[in-house]
Amino acid sequence: MLEVIKSVTSTETNLIANLANICSIIQENKNYHWTGFYLVEGEELVLGPFQGPLACTRIGFGKGVCGSAWKEKKSFKVDDVHSFSGHIACSVKTNSELVVPILKNDEVVAVLDLDSEEFSAFNVHDQNEFERIAEYISTLF
Ligand code: SME
Repeated sequence: MLEVIKSVTSTETNLIANLANICSIIQENKNYHWTGFYLVEGEELVLGPFQGPLACTRIGFGKGVCGSAWKEKKSFKVDDVHSFSGHIACSVKTNSELVVPILKNDEVVAVLDLDSEEFSAFNVHDQNEFERIAEYISTLF
């Protein structure tokens, strides 16, 4: 997936266009319930390009899985979102989640949020793969 993402985005300078196509590439490959970005804006994460159902537009620092990934500057693989304290249920269909922060100069600029209807949909291999993808995405910011 990373090679396709690179080939599609490396010649385009518009961030939103690139993030939108990255969501599409991930969905074409993985068919998750929801794939999208939240972008850091002041003290909140604001909904960015995504594929999937309607989602929450703003998430506070440290709130939910996304806000935790922002605060802790690390990826969160949650096998059962219902057991994650403070989980924000944008969709009742989501049962597991992988959130990977995008870091630029050691600051989180966005998070990539992947949601699945299956429990434990994400394994360590997925986590590593999306962390590598996130490292590349940071070069687009
Ligand atoms: N579940 C996320 C919120 C974002 S939506 O799932 C799209 C969370 O707890 O951060």
